[in-house]
Formats: sequence, C-alpha cells, structure tokens
Amino acid sequence: MSPSSSPVPPPSRIPIESLLSGPSGSTSPKDLQETELSAEERALAQAHDAAAQAAVEQAQAEIEIDNGSDTTSDSASDAGYETDSMYSASTSISSSVRDFAFENGRRYHKFREGSYNFPNDPSEQDREDMKHAMMVNLLGGQLHFAPLGEHPGNVLDMGTGTGIWAIEMGDRYPSANILGVDLSPIQPNWVPPNVRFMVDDVESPWLKPPNYYDYIHSRHTVMAIRDWPLLMKRALEHLKPGGWMEMQEIHHHPYCHDGSMPPDHPVAQYWVLIHDALANLGVNFNATLLLENMMREAGFVNVSTRIFHVPIGTWPKNKVLKLVGLYWRTVLMDGLQPIALGPLTRGLKWSKEQVEVWLIEVRKAYMDAWVHSHMPLHIICGQKPDDGDGPPQATN
Ligand SMILES: C[S@@+](CC[C@H](N)C(=O)[O-])C[C@H]1O[C@@H](n2cnc3c(N)ncnc32)[C@H](O)[C@@H]1O
Repeated sequence: MSPSSSPVPPPSRIPIESLLSGPSGSTSPKDLQETELSAEERALAQAHDAAAQAAVEQAQAEIEIDNGSDTTSDSASDAGYETDSMYSASTSISSSVRDFAFENGRRYHKFREGSYNFPNDPSEQDREDMKHAMMVNLLGGQLHFAPLGEHPGNVLDMGTGTGIWAIEMGDRYPSANILGVDLSPIQPNWVPPNVRFMVDDVESPWLKPPNYYDYIHSRHTVMAIRDWPLLMKRALEHLKPGGWMEMQEIHHHPYCHDGSMPPDHPVAQYWVLIHDALANLGVNFNATLLLENMMREAGFVNVSTRIFHVPIGTWPKNKVLKLVGLYWRTVLMDGLQPIALGPLTRGLKWSKEQVEVWLIEVRKAYMDAWVHSHMPLHIICGQKPDDGDGPPQATN
C-alpha cells in the first residue's frame, strides 16, 4: 500500500491555537486573545489561520512544493537548532527504576535494561519535545482524534517519554485522570494535578483493573513495542466498553511524490539499515502499516486511519508545513546518532566508530535541496465494543 495514495477527509473542527507554538509546544494564543491586536497583527493571525487550515488539508493529500516564487514568504530558516554532541561515558551498577545505564557515551533506561534501544539523556528529551511541537503544528493543535467528549475519565499514555502530551492533555481536560507510563523516569515533577507518571513496562501485565480506562493512547512507540497484538489485547481488556484506543505512529521510511529521492540515497539507505537492525532486535519498525488490521483482529470496532504526510525539510510552500518540515528534519538530523547507535551496535554489531563514520554522508544528504521527501504519520483509532445502544461514530 502506498501511504501517499490514501487520502482521508480532513477533520471538521481544527483548533489553530498551536500556530504560535515554540519547540516546547507552549502556546500564547490566550494571551493574544486577551490583548487588543493591531490591524497588522490581526491580518498576520488570519494568514496563519489560513496556512494552518491548508497545512492540515495538504498534509493529508499532496504537499505543494515551494519553488521560490513567493518573495513575500517569511520562510522558516534552517538556523537555530544545533545539537550539543558532547557526551561522556560512565557506568551504573544500581538496579533502582530511577537509575540509568550508560553505553557508548549515551544514557539509557535501567529498568528492564536493554529492552528499548534509544537513549533518554537530556538532548534526546529536547528532541522528543521538538517532535511534539512538530506534531502540534502538523495536526492543527489536536492532541487526539478519538471522540472523547469534553469529560474523558481515565486516560493512559503508553511510553509517555517526557510526558509532554500527557501534561497538555491534563491541562486541556481538567476532569480527566491521566497516567503516563514509561521505562524511563524522565518526566517533570511539576505537572497538572490530574497527571501522574509511573515507571513501568507496558508490555508486562498492567496494574489497573480490567474495564478501567476510557482512553488509551500511544505516540512514537513503533520503534519500541515488540508484541503489538498482545498489547492491543491487553488494551482491549483494560478499556471500558465503548472506550477508545489511539496510536499516532510515523512510518520511518522516506517517500516522495516526485521521485526526487532514489532508493540508493543515503537517507533512504539509513532507514533501511535501522529497520534491519531493529528486526534483529525483535522490533518490526514497519508495524505502523499493520496496526489498523491488528486492531481489528484484536477485536476493536470502528477502526479508522488518517494519514498525514510529514515533510522532511523546508520544501513545502505552505508556511506551516515548511515549519513542520524544518522541525522534522531537525529531529531526524539531531537524532542521526542516537537513533542509529543502539540498533546498529546491538543489532548489527557495528562499532561506535563505524556508525560515526557512516553518519557523515547521511548527515550531508539530509540537506539535499532537490529532495522533496516525507514520512507518513498514521493515526489509528479503534473502540472497544459497547454492550449498550451503540457507540458514538466519529473520528475527530
Ligand atoms: C520515542 S519516545 C515517545 C515519547 C512520547 N510518547 C511522545 O510522543 O512524546 C518512546 C518512549 O517509549 C518508552 N518505552 C519504550 N518501550 C516501553 C515499554 N515497554 N513500556 C513503557 N515505555 C516504553 C521509551 O522509554 C520512550 O520514552
């Protein structure tokens, strides 16, 4: 199946409050509403609204390329997101869940050590938060597409990472009771009162009782989960009847509509190798394409997928997608070493030095201006069958 050829209808209601988001995802639209705007500022805000609406629509169909003809465009520049690449190595011997393990100069989780192949050090956390900003901009500010109503109850965020999604959900739905679970204790202490975090493995039996959650969410976990069918079975058991599960997962394979990225391009080759290495470690990095069917097979109903194209680089004409592309390319370039190091050294037995040398070429290739590539983001929602009068139908 070609993800590019599966357009789905755009959401009917698209909040645009994320448009002025910074990399942390923090927004200032409320401040803006409360302040009196000049005519110029109002025009600017309207232009942003239109660009955001167009971004959501184009990302689900075909993204228009910026051919440089719009001289008034305030294109997102490439500057400002350099990576700090100074890491030091040391060794941890304690087994506390709050400890860390160190390998090849990067910090990893200690609880269930070795099961997740990517670091959790501060530069990785910054990268995760930039990924969140990319998502917020791409999705017009929507944190979820399952129809939760205004008062969702118990919410689980599987593989919560820095907890940024859980925290924003907690702010948006004060009545909800949000639990973020992760192998790494990297979440902040100061969070909304309705948000809690726990170090645990979502692939082990869950502590909460069956029929407990109203909504189970995961995002960017396709590089982590080994047994999706079992995880879905567990999710189904722990959801209330009528409750929703939603997965937001990118297929980490660069596609292009115009053939500008040949299969032997170093970036394409990079991702092939990461897939091979993860396969040796028991992770199917292509699982994104299988999740919809797996959900149906697990027993979910009203299963649907939306596909958004995430541009890599600043090639889109649309301003919001240009920013999304800048964020995403930065996330991938800053992630070159942390994404490759664990899989290639553990899964393909490369040395750290071999990895570093190989990355030089890939790093350069990410900046090839003639390439118009993207990665498909799949948003898959499904519902636990309801014994009652029938479930609500909707996907936004
Ligand atoms: C790429 S990050 C995504 C973080 C977050 N979902 C987001 O979108 O911002 C994946 C996270 O999943 C966590 N993870 C991986 N395997 C896990 C498991 N079996 N149980 C719990 N968390 C896990 C990792 O520790 C990591 O923080």
